[in-house]
Amino acid sequence: MENTEQLLALAQKCRDNAYAPYSKFKVGAAVYSADGRFFGGCNVENISYPCGTCAEAGAIAAMVAAGAAKIAEILIVADTQNIVPCGNCLQKIAEFGTADTLIHSADISGNIKTYKLVELMPQSFNAKEVKNA
Ligand code: THU
Repeated sequence: MENTEQLLALAQKCRDNAYAPYSKFKVGAAVYSADGRFFGGCNVENISYPCGTCAEAGAIAAMVAAGAAKIAEILIVADTQNIVPCGNCLQKIAEFGTADTLIHSADISGNIKTYKLVELMPQSFNAKEVKNA
């Protein structure tokens, strides 16, 4: 089931609050968890540039903090063309998603392109193989 309307509305609301004074590139994200809840996030930059976090990271952290275990869908919105999550965020999505997790990318006009995680990240590092993890 797709929930793109609600995801888009939440991600846009979060994007309005993005803290991106350095790149000026605001991003909003929203997660729909497998247990049917919505969580939002935005990018939060830092004057020490590597400390900044992506919108997806914020939404995923909110999901985990609320006790949800799986990402069914995630949507990101930026004010240019459709963007896809960075490699770092794809790895984060893989941790809590499946090959079929839907990744929606919206532009500022609400045009949406939808991918499955497996399309954007055919293979990911599998932490389950890490001993003592
Ligand atoms: N950014 C995200 O929030 N999500 C992405 O998928 C790609 C990039 C943020 C990081 C940084 O604050 C700004 O966009 C420019 O790279």
